[in-house]
Amino acid sequence: LIKRRLDYQQPDFSIRSTFLTFDLSPSKTVVTSCLHIKKENINATQLKLDGENLLLLSVSVNGRSLGEYEYQFDEYSLSLNIDEENVELEITTQIDPQSNTSLEGLYYTQSTYCTQCEAEGFRKISYYLDRPDVLSVFTVTIRSKCETDKFLLSNGNLVKRYQDGDTAIAVWHDPHPKPSYLFALVAGDFDLLTDSYSTLSGRQINLELYLEKGRLKQGQHALDSLKKAMRWDEETYGLEYDLAVYMVVAVDFFNMGAMENKGLNVFNSKFVLADPQTATDEDYFNIESIIAHEYFHNWTGNRVTCRDWFQLSLKEGLTVFRDQQFSADMSSYLSTRIAQVKVIREHQFVEDAGPMSHPIRPDEVMEMNNFYTVTVYDKGAEVIRMLHTLLTKEGFRKGMDLYFARHDGQAVTCDDFVDAMASANNVDLRHFQLWYSQSGTPLIKVRKVGSENKGKSTTFEFTQINAATPDQANKKPLFVPISTKFLDESGQEIKVSSLNNGNIIVDRDKVSVTVESENVTPVLLDNFSAPIIVEYDYAIDELLHIIQYADSSYAKWDASQGLFIKCIQTCYLEDFDSLTQRETKAVLAKYANVLKSNSIESDVLAQLLSVPSFEAARVGLESIDPIRFDAAIQAVQQAFADELGEYALLRCQDFIQSEYEYSTEQVNARAIYAAWLKLASLSEQGKNAALVTLRKRYANADNMSDKLNCLKVAQATNIAVFDELMLKFESEYTHDAVIMDKWFSLHATARRSDILSRLDLLKAHSQFNQRNPNKVRALLGSFAFYNLSGFHQKDGLGYKYVADYLLQLDKINPQVASRIITPLLQFKQYDASYKAHMKHQLERIFNSKELSKDLFEKTSKALASD
Ligand code: ARG
Ligand code: ZN
Repeated sequence: LIKRRLDYQQPDFSIRSTFLTFDLSPSKTVVTSCLHIKKENINATQLKLDGENLLLLSVSVNGRSLGEYEYQFDEYSLSLNIDEENVELEITTQIDPQSNTSLEGLYYTQSTYCTQCEAEGFRKISYYLDRPDVLSVFTVTIRSKCETDKFLLSNGNLVKRYQDGDTAIAVWHDPHPKPSYLFALVAGDFDLLTDSYSTLSGRQINLELYLEKGRLKQGQHALDSLKKAMRWDEETYGLEYDLAVYMVVAVDFFNMGAMENKGLNVFNSKFVLADPQTATDEDYFNIESIIAHEYFHNWTGNRVTCRDWFQLSLKEGLTVFRDQQFSADMSSYLSTRIAQVKVIREHQFVEDAGPMSHPIRPDEVMEMNNFYTVTVYDKGAEVIRMLHTLLTKEGFRKGMDLYFARHDGQAVTCDDFVDAMASANNVDLRHFQLWYSQSGTPLIKVRKVGSENKGKSTTFEFTQINAATPDQANKKPLFVPISTKFLDESGQEIKVSSLNNGNIIVDRDKVSVTVESENVTPVLLDNFSAPIIVEYDYAIDELLHIIQYADSSYAKWDASQGLFIKCIQTCYLEDFDSLTQRETKAVLAKYANVLKSNSIESDVLAQLLSVPSFEAARVGLESIDPIRFDAAIQAVQQAFADELGEYALLRCQDFIQSEYEYSTEQVNARAIYAAWLKLASLSEQGKNAALVTLRKRYANADNMSDKLNCLKVAQATNIAVFDELMLKFESEYTHDAVIMDKWFSLHATARRSDILSRLDLLKAHSQFNQRNPNKVRALLGSFAFYNLSGFHQKDGLGYKYVADYLLQLDKINPQVASRIITPLLQFKQYDASYKAHMKHQLERIFNSKELSKDLFEKTSKALASD
């Protein structure tokens, strides 16, 4: 059942060309596949093709139809003997797109055919060498007798489109050899938004956006984003698009965000559709970044692809890094960086601390779909970012150029990528490369070891600790760049010559640095220069010093988080007595004064006003009582609001509403307003006036961002007002499935004692549909991930609720079920009684009949880790 990275073997056969013909019909689609097979290993005799859920109709070799005794097949494969070096193999199969609820392979929903083949979905369409290192030139013929199949789309260029009696036919040819996971087919009726783009070298590209009927005007932002991404990649990396047409299709039923199929991206409609009335600032941001991500895959992913799925980070880590660079250039470096760091701290560290811990290049996989993770994607991007830091922008670009010069058209490994970076820059990256094979989060403890030289200098000691993880017992010290600054008493930066480009390189168990000054405040891990945890026992005054004087806004934010976390952990650990409360109040009062007296940059202000989440605040603590910890967060949030309440109310009045525009300035202004409004509405002094403002604001809001901000503030501060506004929202948007996801998710995360019966009602809502992954994620996913008090009920009923649902969902869509189980997998991090309840639910799932591979892998690893 387990596949291992080190077992890789080159394929014995290649597929020179692939001719596919689809005769579409919702429940009986016939797929004819004609493959030119070449034997690459002369000793090989047997060709074994992957296939799943296929009804085999016929097999022929070089025009001769095979008898049943001339091939073998089972649930997962078709095998036959091949004697010649070159053969034409023709296989006909029948599939049932309409009953395909897994949304993998070819599926049919809402009168639309759609495919998702990555990672191993092509085998649900036809028998094939369904592995990324088999590259083939595809020609695809799509035939449909159904009039609503107005558009028949596949990869590459349209060769011809014609009518044969009652059958509509389209033929597509993609000249670029590609693995099967990049194949795509879409058929249905859409509204089409078109544009054209001219590349720096002067070629014209047709851009085509396929949208649900009636949603044409919601496509403009995605289209604009695409053009920006195309220009950016030309200017930043010298990479141009390589086909005459670029198509993007938006669909409502999709397992993930989007997919980079060659020339024919398929998107979750949530990451395409936007206009001011329906999309928030966050939606605008995500659309721009995901459109860019899929576009950037055309080079990092498609032109150079992965040799095997263990190498997934080769394309994903690199492409995420590229889309992060792009977003920083399009909006603000700081807010994009903070958002990325939150993903690592709140999700990736948690994954690394749990039973699914794996290196960015995993060694063992049962179900590949389980490895599209924050580790492979986001930690993978952080590893690329460290290379970028160490080699500099110019050195990184040289490495990219060499990577493409060497590997264009190939399927390669992460080692090949690092080799290109090393050769282009003439550096040795062998120690650095350990980031690819070692899992877990390095902990760096920093200590002031004393002062020397009659107190004129201070030495700091950095100790690197790599604890064992369930998948790996023995760890080695990694090569860790820690961007560090030292501030003196007046807030001036002290120059330290031993630093490497501003970084302390911790590449051993212990490294020391001496600063020629006394009374130094270290600013550690600026810009999050490595995906690690740094532990340093800051005094509150040192944190305030950083917030006041650091010239890096990132450092200010990080120090503010440290300050809140210190308060929260003290409240949690020290029994909430009056002393802790008084101390906390005093700290927050000082902090509030800093916020009032300093002119804080507008791109960081909203962030400085926000108390950290549960996952961020619990860093360093084990066996957590989640309810008690949640109460500690609430207490700190309340004390902070009371400290700033009146002032916050005043600040709310500064806000001038202008016509909605997605611009950095307006995005910051809206976020700051929401942060002040939340503090005012929570505070004793401001709450009544703030609620009046909130209602008015909701009523007058002409855009989705402001509306949603109001709903979130109400959800966090006054449940009666929340219910009132949610009813209004429902009656206004009940017809729009995409917008209603926001409504489901707000309900699912509300703090209320009857949450489980609410969830029952919501599941029965006319817009809920358990076959639609967006709906399931909005309701059950939001609940499990973000409703602390609802999920972690003392009697375990929150866990049971999720487990019951997952048992049903697993039969419909195992990939989605396997994502939502994540919070349950973290059971070891909780206090005994919670842990026991969670474990019990994991056992129930593990022991259930006909469990998918996806849930089997996760539950078995979780239970084995305890
Ligand atoms: N390659 C796609 C992207 O990153 C995501 C594919 C996810 N596939 C999966 N089986 N979960 O853009
Ligand atoms: Zn990707």
